[in-house]
Amino acid sequence: MPTSLSGRHFLRLLDFSTEEIEYLLKLAKNFKDMKRAGVPHRYLEGKNIVLLFQKTSTRTRCAFEVGAMDLGMGVTYLDPGSSQMGKKESIEDTARVLGRFYDGIEFRGFAQTDVEELANNAGVPVWNGLTTEWHPTQMLADILTMQENFNYDIKGKTFVFMGDAANNVARSLMVVCSKLGVNFVACGPKENMPDAELIETCQAIAAENGSTVKTTESIDEAVTGAHVIYADVWVSMGEPDEVWAERIRLLEPYRVTEAVMAKADPSAIFLHCLPSFHDTNTTIGADIAERFGVTEMEVEDTVFESKQSKVFDEAENRMHTIKAVMYATLS
Ligand code: CP
Ligand code: NVA
Repeated sequence: MPTSLSGRHFLRLLDFSTEEIEYLLKLAKNFKDMKRAGVPHRYLEGKNIVLLFQKTSTRTRCAFEVGAMDLGMGVTYLDPGSSQMGKKESIEDTARVLGRFYDGIEFRGFAQTDVEELANNAGVPVWNGLTTEWHPTQMLADILTMQENFNYDIKGKTFVFMGDAANNVARSLMVVCSKLGVNFVACGPKENMPDAELIETCQAIAAENGSTVKTTESIDEAVTGAHVIYADVWVSMGEPDEVWAERIRLLEPYRVTEAVMAKADPSAIFLHCLPSFHDTNTTIGADIAERFGVTEMEVEDTVFESKQSKVFDEAENRMHTIKAVMYATLS
């Protein structure tokens, strides 16, 4: 039976089969090819979507906006301060209102239960643009970038996440890798590992797809011969400022350095969901440098700027993959 995701929500990758994820990746590649060739694809003309952001964003917001406009749709953006949601109106009521206006709703916020509540009441597809627990649209861009660099042959390759492996990005990567038969290694301190239940779930999924899921505190064990080295910020949006000192203490040994990249496979690439603290050219970066004397955080600037770094291809791929998600669920 051909894959159809029509009318589905996109809340977390655990809800999608291997075939469905592969279908979205193929669709994204087709959209990327069309965009590059200048072939119009206004397949969803007449539809409208709304983007609800309770946290800030550059990539996710712009990917949804440009993706929607390329597909011929109208877009409304509601920033963290400008809707009634949460303050004067419940998520449930907001969902019931927006579902009457729009054909699809993107939500970036805090608890996963919030995006689930939105989905349960909207009556139209809801897409998770990041919660504390998951970041599912990011994964499609990450895997598309991996495919592009390994000739679309990623099964059996090894993907290492270094740093705060308990966060939304690491947890989502663990799921997508196990679904696609990619070996996944979470490398960091034991304090920052995904929860045991999720690790077990992913290990079972990976076993079905011929791959493994491991956690380790040993950098050598994790990165030797690996194909993708991935980093994310040490403190995620919504976490209190007080966690910085502890995170820096725990995660500094797990910075992606040139020495780390040298241990990986010669074909290895570096990925990062961005934004990244690879220098002090940001207010937070400068503040951390002043308070803790740390001038590069999760990745060394030389790695970030190296040939092995594919982070801007990855950022571009957010748009092609998000377009695929909107097209698949709205058509
Ligand atoms: N990677 C990512 O989600 O970026 P933004 O926070 O800019 O959307
Ligand atoms: N873990 C990060 C990802 C940002 C795209 C955060 O939640 O802030």
